Amino acid sequence: MSGRTIEITETVLRDAHQSLMATRMSTEDMLPIIEKMDKVGYFSLECWGGATFDASIRFLNEDPWDRLREIRKRAPNTKLQMLLRGQNLLGYRHYADDVVDKFVEKSIENGIDVFRIFDALNDVRNLEASLKAVKKFGGHAQLTICYTISDVHTIPYFIDLAKQMQKMGADSICIKDMAGILTPYVAKDLVRALKEVITVPLSLHTHATSGTSQMTYLMAVEAGVDMIDTAISPFAEGTSQPPTETLAICLNEGENHTKLDVALLEDIADYFKPIRDKYLANELLNPKMMGSDPKALIYQVPGGMLSNLLSQLKQANATDRYDEVLKEVPRVRADLGFPPLVTPMSQMVGTQAVFNVLADERYKIVPNEIKEYLRGAYGQTPVPVEEEFRKSIIHDDPVITDRPANHIDPEFDRLKNELGELAKSDEDVLTYALFPQVGKAFLEKKYQTSVNTSQSINKHETEDTVIRISARM
Ligand code: CO
Repeated sequence: MSGRTIEITETVLRDAHQSLMATRMSTEDMLPIIEKMDKVGYFSLECWGGATFDASIRFLNEDPWDRLREIRKRAPNTKLQMLLRGQNLLGYRHYADDVVDKFVEKSIENGIDVFRIFDALNDVRNLEASLKAVKKFGGHAQLTICYTISDVHTIPYFIDLAKQMQKMGADSICIKDMAGILTPYVAKDLVRALKEVITVPLSLHTHATSGTSQMTYLMAVEAGVDMIDTAISPFAEGTSQPPTETLAICLNEGENHTKLDVALLEDIADYFKPIRDKYLANELLNPKMMGSDPKALIYQVPGGMLSNLLSQLKQANATDRYDEVLKEVPRVRADLGFPPLVTPMSQMVGTQAVFNVLADERYKIVPNEIKEYLRGAYGQTPVPVEEEFRKSIIHDDPVITDRPANHIDPEFDRLKNELGELAKSDEDVLTYALFPQVGKAFLEKKYQTSVNTSQSINKHETEDTVIRISARM
C-alpha cells in the first residue's frame, strides 16, 4: 500500500455549486480560470452532467453544449468528467437506448472523457446501455455504487455490486456518498472490502455535509482508495466536498501523494473567492449550506436535497416545517423500499415528504413519478415495496420487472421530427429530449423563432412534474 499516487477530481465546476447553490454558477465565471486548472495535475475536472444541463437552460439561458466545448478548448491536458444518471441521462425519466447512445456519442465528441454513471436504485441493468455506448465511443466508464444506509445496504451487498460492475466492464468504480453519511470507520471497512474483490481503480465521492468528509477520505486513502473528489476551498465544505488544498497538503505529508501543484491551487482559490462572495451577495448561495450539519447522519439526506427542501418550503411559506419534513423523508423512503436518496429519487422522495407534511395527510397527493416508480418504471427497488402500499397508490396497474428500457421504443428520430426546424443539430435534439418544455423554449430563444409554442407541450407526461409541482408550492 505504500507510496501510491492519490488522484484528485476537482468538483468546483459541477458538484460544488450544484450542492451549495442549486447549480447556478455561470460559464462566464468558470472560463477565465480553466487554463490554470488544466495545469494543476488533477485526474479530472468534473464540469458537466448532474444538474448543470438543466440549470443552464432553465435559469442561465446558456447552451450547456457550448459550456462543455469552451471548457474543453481551455483544458487540453486534463480529463473532463461528467455525472450521468444511467438510463435517465440528465433528465427525469428513462430514455430509449438509441437516445442514450446518441447522448454519449455527442458528449464525447464535445469533450467528455470520463463518465461517472450511476443508477438511483443501483439496478445495474440501468447502466448497461450507457456503459456500452461509452465503450463504443472510446470514453472511460466509471460505474458507480450509490452509497446509502439501510438493512439491505451492507458490505456484502456493495461487494456484490462492485463485482458485477467490474464484470460488466467498468474502467473504474466509484463509491458515491451523495449524502455525506459515509463515516470514517465504515469507509475504511468498505474500501478495504471492495479493494479485495476488484482490480480496477476505486474512487470515493463524499460530501462535507455532516462534518466527516476529511476523516472519511483519510481513512479511505489509508484503506487503499485510489481517487477522491474535492472542491477548491471557496466552494468547499458544507453541502459541497472538502477543500482541495487541505487534502493535497495533508496527504502529501504521508506515504501517499497527490500530484497537485499547491501554489496553483492557491491562485485558483483566490480567483473563486470573489465569485463566491458575489453569489452570497445575490443570495443564490445561502450561508446555511456552508456549515456542517450532523443531522445528515441521522436523516441521511444529501446536501442538494436539503437545499431543495428548504427552497420548496420557502415558496410555500412553510420553512417552520423543515424539521417535520426532515423526519418524514426516512418514512417515505422506507415505504418506497429504501431507494438511495440521489437524483431523481431524492427529488421524488423529498417532494412526497413535503406533500405529506403540508397536506397534513400522507399520500393524499402523489406525483406521477412516484406512481411510475411503483409501476417498476425505474427498475428494481432495493427492498420489495409492500404490496398493500403499492396497491393503495397504483391499484392494479401492471408492474414492470425486467430492464425498464426494454419497454421504450427507439425515439431519437421521433424527437427530432417533433422538434422540427429547431433541430439544428443532434445536440439540440438531445437538449429537447432531456427537457421537452424548457429545452424547447430555450432553443426557441436561441434561434429566435416563433414556432407554435403551445403545441406538443405535455406530450411527455413525466416531464418535470416534480419540479413544476414543487415550484408551485
Ligand atoms: Co455529489
